[in-house]
Amino acid sequence: MKVIVIGGGGREHAIIKKLKGHPEIEALYALPGNGGIASDAICVPIGAKDIPAIVAFAQEKQIDFAVVTPDDPLVLGCVDALEEAGVRCFGPRKNAAILEGSKVFAKNLMKKYGIPTAAYEVFDTAEDALRYLEDAPIPTVLKADGLALGKGVIIATTREEAKAAVHSMMEERIFGQSGARIVIEEFLEGPEVSVLAFTDGNVVKPMVSSMDHKRAHDGDEGLNTGGMGTIAPNPFYTEEVANACMERIFLPTIRAMKEEGRPFKGCLYFGLMITKDGPKVIEYNCRFGDPEAQVVLPLLESDLFTIFRAVSDGRLADVEVKFSDGAACCVVVASDGYPKQYETGFPITVDADIASDVLYAGAKDKDGVLVTGGGRVLCVVAKADTLPEAVDAAYRDVPKVHFQNAYSRSDIGKRALSILNERAAN
Ligand code: AMP
Ligand code: GLY
Repeated sequence: MKVIVIGGGGREHAIIKKLKGHPEIEALYALPGNGGIASDAICVPIGAKDIPAIVAFAQEKQIDFAVVTPDDPLVLGCVDALEEAGVRCFGPRKNAAILEGSKVFAKNLMKKYGIPTAAYEVFDTAEDALRYLEDAPIPTVLKADGLALGKGVIIATTREEAKAAVHSMMEERIFGQSGARIVIEEFLEGPEVSVLAFTDGNVVKPMVSSMDHKRAHDGDEGLNTGGMGTIAPNPFYTEEVANACMERIFLPTIRAMKEEGRPFKGCLYFGLMITKDGPKVIEYNCRFGDPEAQVVLPLLESDLFTIFRAVSDGRLADVEVKFSDGAACCVVVASDGYPKQYETGFPITVDADIASDVLYAGAKDKDGVLVTGGGRVLCVVAKADTLPEAVDAAYRDVPKVHFQNAYSRSDIGKRALSILNERAAN
């Protein structure tokens, strides 16, 4: 079969590593991929949002199966367009991708079906939002309705900050049209857990849990980024929490989407907070997380391509989704200055004796040399029997990747390891 993976980051590289060499895959393409992915798939310079060009390519090459990975093409209806052209897909249709594409849709769905989440109000005008903030509980969380490049969320710790956020989102439109409507919601506290789940619209099979580290600097300081590193499994996701999530969140969400006539097929990402009142949904994403996929997929023992096809055909109940008992750690190595300003174009080299996997994100080919081309440049991913070993192994290998202005956090996994140590001591 001929397969395309749409997207070009570390997450797509993780998917491609799992599909590469599959006995049933005769050709594997990445659209657009990147200079580092090029050693594992044929990269074609078609942007992930250029749906007409993606469909034309799929028809020209007689592609059998497409994995649509990033949020933008999913929300724009890439799966709908490909399926209409006769290409089977892994990923939700547009009417289901709205679960990530509109925070208002997601919040209203949770309210209607009693799925635990932060209490909220929706506002269409700055005037109403400002009036509400006069006596709203503080801290509070403001979210732009639409996609905003993984940003679009402001946590305000004072009333003044909250009001300023309304001005910048709704009047100055710092997140563009996404800020035409906003959600203001209750500030929740507790450890965060990411759970990715395969679902064919009827059946849901959660993957191993993970923990992202979103802030730029050690100790969760600095700006929010796309994610500076991940570990799996997440020790805060105990069996008890997992059971509560299945019963109160995962199954109700799948049933709700079906009930609404929007069956969700693909990978559904549950961003959860484990509060003192139990797990609550912080956000849904309609896709694999990045860099969550980089730690979750290496632990998958079942065949990913078999699962993708079963999801697409509505046969997920018939296939096994099995994960190893081990652990994984991903450390993102970024260009210093990310997520603000940074330089690119520096050659990337990797020592021959590196044991970890290197997954490329912001890397490009320049006259046959691999150079930096983005904020998050690459991910060092280690797998081991236990989490402490995986974290150690990843950090042993970070110094084995080289490029000018390389920057990484030094504490990925620290919070997870400290809770494990605490439990061991008790
Ligand atoms: P998002 O961009 O939706 O991933 O949100 C970014 C981060 O904001 C999340 O990972 C949480 O840490 C935080 N956040 C979002 N909503 C809330 C909330 N209601 N209470 C506390 N923190 C939140
Ligand atoms: N790592 C968070 C996300 O993919 O949205």
